[in-house]
Amino acid sequence: MVHLDGAEVLRISRGEQARGVVTVPGDKSVSHRALLLGAMADGITTIRGLSRGQDVQHTRRAVERFGVTVTETGDGTVRVEGPLRHEPDDVLDHGNAGTGIRLMAGVCAGVKGLSVLTGDQYLRRRPMDRVALPMREMGAHVEGRDGGRLAPLVIRGGRLRGITYEPPQASAQVKSAVLLAGLSASGVTTVVEEHPTRRHTEEMMAQFGARVTIDGPRVSVESGPLSGTDVVVPGDPSQAAFWALAALLTEASEVTVPGLYTGYGRSDFVAVLARMGADIELDPVSGDLTVRHAPLWGVDITAADIPGIVDEVPALAMAAAVAGGTTVISGAAELRAKESDRIASTAGMLRAFGVPVTETEDGLVIEGGAQLRAGRVDSCGDHRIAMTAAVAAACAAEGSSEIGDWDAVATSYPGFAAQLARVTGAVVEPGQ
Ligand code: S3P
Repeated sequence: MVHLDGAEVLRISRGEQARGVVTVPGDKSVSHRALLLGAMADGITTIRGLSRGQDVQHTRRAVERFGVTVTETGDGTVRVEGPLRHEPDDVLDHGNAGTGIRLMAGVCAGVKGLSVLTGDQYLRRRPMDRVALPMREMGAHVEGRDGGRLAPLVIRGGRLRGITYEPPQASAQVKSAVLLAGLSASGVTTVVEEHPTRRHTEEMMAQFGARVTIDGPRVSVESGPLSGTDVVVPGDPSQAAFWALAALLTEASEVTVPGLYTGYGRSDFVAVLARMGADIELDPVSGDLTVRHAPLWGVDITAADIPGIVDEVPALAMAAAVAGGTTVISGAAELRAKESDRIASTAGMLRAFGVPVTETEDGLVIEGGAQLRAGRVDSCGDHRIAMTAAVAAACAAEGSSEIGDWDAVATSYPGFAAQLARVTGAVVEPGQ
């Protein structure tokens, strides 16, 4: 279904209920980290279930620039032969991937030599000073456009010293960049978080043999060799959130998404949807998510909720649009620094479907209970806006909707449009 993945505009005519079992791509956060740690480690790392999205493909090509061999076996297992052999022999292009470039900045800070990191037009507008500042504090030379705020970034890495860093924003990407640099720094490197974020980096570093300690909101790492290991990438909960939304929008719907990551900080959307009245269950052992249609009501979502649902806000906002009452989302200013300004793009998407919404500085006020009308949505080059809009078009909006910049979805979820057609019976085709 490559023609749907590559379509610039996708046209969707509403289907019936959402029903079935849907397999989602391997977790994107885990996939980036498995490639990076595999590249830094001595020996062979095997990765099963790696995300096939473009973001992760960019990370794969980037690690190859350091002389690391990445191959694939017949069953799709990816094999990484570390460690990094030299400074990268060309510019590292991370495409649209904020996680890719920021984590790679942490790796490059510890590599002796010169690294140049860049990305597409959207990534080059996103803040990089959040990683440049701690990398400089650790002893790396980091330059970038606009006084070091924007990519391309130029990093001269090498001798680093451990620091204790309290990121001013709740960001797993910043925490991870500092911890990855910490693997090559003298002494101990510690990150202290006010609002704790996803723990993939610290969990996986331990799996690769790093000396990591987690003490409440403090994570510390010491330098030392990593050894290659076998990684099995679980399903991506953030992608499952779109299927949860699909099940909640239409009566008599039921969707199961098997095998998701169930660790810290990734599935809080399940609790938020349950607070809204959803019939939703995530099995903590199997990672199977089951969602059945149920009437929803509006809730307040505040700053403490945000790190655990940071990528699911567009889908939750769409659930709020069909819920009874008002939903107020606050403390979410970080969303303005995502693949798009996600407060503005989520508001724009809701308006396109006729939902009354007010944008605030750090969130949204959504008046629920609207009957969605078909619309033309600009995804703003943001895969999560595109997929949320597609689900709304397939499951809730009467008539035929169009979604612009659809090809952004290939960054994380190739094949999504075809699955949506299968699960909902919607007619999905390239538009004008
Ligand atoms: C990610 C962290 C989050 C999230 C992104 C993936 C990660 O970004 O939005 O999609 O894998 O560490 P921030 O750390 O900037 O909040």
